Amino acid sequence: MNKIGVDIVNISRMTKLSEATKKGIFNKAEIERSNTFTSSQAKAEYLAGRFAAKEALAKALGVAFTKLKPSEIVVTNLDSGKPVLNLEGQSKENFPTLKCEISISHDSPSAIAVVLVEEMNG
Ligand SMILES: CC(C)(COP(=O)(O)OP(=O)(O)OC[C@H]1O[C@@H](n2cnc3c(N)ncnc32)[C@H](O)[C@@H]1OP(=O)(O)O)[C@@H](O)C(=O)NCCC(=O)NCCS
Repeated sequence: MNKIGVDIVNISRMTKLSEATKKGIFNKAEIERSNTFTSSQAKAEYLAGRFAAKEALAKALGVAFTKLKPSEIVVTNLDSGKPVLNLEGQSKENFPTLKCEISISHDSPSAIAVVLVEEMNG
């Protein structure tokens, strides 16, 4: 059965996160990519989209962040810019067959993400 989740995040919240909090929420690859942005607004938009994606996935799966660890949810981009979501570590073990589609948009003050889970047998 397909399941959908959506979340909206205030972009400015991202500028107030400590480095330790960021490490608990974002994957290393996401943090490294965010650090390549020279504009603080672009960086905050990028992080807010990923923050929304993690919450949207949890909503789609109907689980709290007990079976899913936010920093193990990894949202990267294809060369085209299209975002893709993958799991790592224990989260991947909990949802080994996860297959999903994701879409992100940001327009200050908000970023939004929609996740469609296509199949899930984990
Ligand atoms: C790329 C595009 C999505 C940007 O739209 P925008 O209104 O400027 O920006 P938004 O804030 O709404 O969306 C940005 C998000 O779109 C997503 N995105 C970028 N390229 C994408 C693509 N090819 N397909 C799907 N999603 C894409 C990314 O997740 C990006 O956020 P992120 O960089 O933080 O991950 C838009 O130009 C588009 O619709 N592209 C799809 C069609 C296309 O490839 N057009 C090329 C025109 S030459």
